[in-house]
Amino acid sequence: MLHIPFNRPVVIGKEFDYMRQAIVSEHISGDGPFTKKCQTLLEDALGIAKVLLTTSCTHALEMAALLLGIQPGDEVIVPSFTFVSTVNAFVLRSAKPVFIDIHPNTLNMDEMQLERLITPRTRAIIPVHYAGVGCEMDAICEIATRHGIPIVEDNAHGLFGKYKGRYLGTFGTLATQSFHETKNFTCGEGGALLINDEQYIERAEIIREKGTNRAQFFRGQVDKYTWRDIGSSYLPSDILAAFLYAQLECRDRIQTTRQRIWEYYADHLHDWAETNGVCIPFVPSHCEQTYHMFYLLLPSLEERTALIAHLKSQGIHSVFHYLPLHLAPMGRRWGYREGDFPVTEDVSERLVRLPFYNELQEEEQERVCKALTEASRLW
Ligand SMILES: Cc1ncc(COP(=O)(O)O)c(C=O)c1O
Repeated sequence: MLHIPFNRPVVIGKEFDYMRQAIVSEHISGDGPFTKKCQTLLEDALGIAKVLLTTSCTHALEMAALLLGIQPGDEVIVPSFTFVSTVNAFVLRSAKPVFIDIHPNTLNMDEMQLERLITPRTRAIIPVHYAGVGCEMDAICEIATRHGIPIVEDNAHGLFGKYKGRYLGTFGTLATQSFHETKNFTCGEGGALLINDEQYIERAEIIREKGTNRAQFFRGQVDKYTWRDIGSSYLPSDILAAFLYAQLECRDRIQTTRQRIWEYYADHLHDWAETNGVCIPFVPSHCEQTYHMFYLLLPSLEERTALIAHLKSQGIHSVFHYLPLHLAPMGRRWGYREGDFPVTEDVSERLVRLPFYNELQEEEQERVCKALTEASRLW
């Protein structure tokens, strides 16, 4: 029986050619020609003032926390249903995470609960566009603007997704992307910081280059570079940027393929889901999603455990996703307890992600769907 992995990174275009070019042209450190090509491509495609490639989305989030000048005791409002880095980047600056629950349908931040969490110490609101489906940005932006609080969009899943016709990543003061192996576009490990408010560009370049104005030096704007600010090394090698550029060039092909895979699951599982008390992803009509993942919400933890085990016995690797951060040992340090965020706690026990990657074949999807039907007969 052939194994169907959960994820498989695939070469789709000129990845090897471009990596070779980077090596032959003897610029393999950061900020070389391929980094610039990726940044320009993303700036033009999304209409963003400045894009800076980073070593990961985690690091882009850390840069965001530094740029916003987060201080000990500052508060950031963030979903508990997210990857640890969304929160940790701010906790590293000694901020207090103020968790918020999610909508049961999109699994995105529940904007109805946002305003009552704002205090005089709130320094940032961090919406996460889960599965590349936009959060309710009209309401979130209105509240943030009224209180003068910057938004940092964690858009790790949402590159090229849209909310009401506008690209995700263009709403916040800052936004972050991931190019980790599991994402639609990858270079193994990588990310980007999207800067919509131009006042942050100069300092972002300095923070990303170990606290120096080296970027200005290379542009010939200063005759030597020096230590100007705090910072770290957040720029990826140009070999990785070369790999990523090849993927970004093929963005339409990648998105069309992923749409086909997503729609196969949706079409073939719709009836089965309805009869078996399972939910498939909900995408509001005003959101253009990115086809980043396909998940199911099972009736309960027991069914999910049985389903993952049955798929495994059929050689199919499926995975659950985020565990509530407020109930993690670290989250509990701020006094959070069971029952604080009921939707997050419920969903995280019932969610399972199906195999999803650019080269997933229809026969493999057929096998996954068949195994799901078998699993539900065992409930
Ligand atoms: C919502 C979210 N934010 C941030 C990250 C971190 O991304 P990276 O691995 O590029 O640091 C992830 C990882 O998958 C994620 O799901």
